[in-house]
Amino acid sequence: MTVNGKAVSAEVDPRMLLVSFLREALDLTGTHVGCDTSQCGACVVHLDGGAVKSCTMLAVQADGAAVTTIEGLAKGGVLHPMQEAFRENHGLQCGFCTPGMIMSAVDLVARYGPGLDEATIRENLDGNLCRCTGYHNIVKAVAAGARAMGEAHMAEAPRAAE
Ligand code: FES
Ligand code: FES
Repeated sequence: MTVNGKAVSAEVDPRMLLVSFLREALDLTGTHVGCDTSQCGACVVHLDGGAVKSCTMLAVQADGAAVTTIEGLAKGGVLHPMQEAFRENHGLQCGFCTPGMIMSAVDLVARYGPGLDEATIRENLDGNLCRCTGYHNIVKAVAAGARAMGEAHMAEAPRAAE
């Protein structure tokens, strides 16, 4: 598979979960495990561009796929707009749920566009649990990150057309 743009190859136990492969074989420990019931969303990564809970699939099921983890979002030492929005809006306390929240939020923008309203954010983040924040700042951060992603996209568009 490709992980964060790099080709990786390994022989794994057929029972190994994708989240275990990322954390244990590749040392990408930004993807967290917060439950054993597929409920918390701390393990969310992107698989071929869409959000998945990496504890709900086997590593072998990602054979040939492109996986992005939280470590793959920042580019050249610059935080992704959604990461920056969580920092700016204090969308975290302990930070344990944050990687999964951010990966889900980026997927949400890809599906609904940058003008996200609060109801859409709350409804679509129902697969991500936070034990600390009360969610208010997370929702604010996701809305701000979505807007920033839209602006970054607009800024890139003229350059892409050149
Ligand atoms: Fe995957 Fe909780 S660890 S949903
Ligand atoms: Fe602590 Fe969400 S910030 S679990």
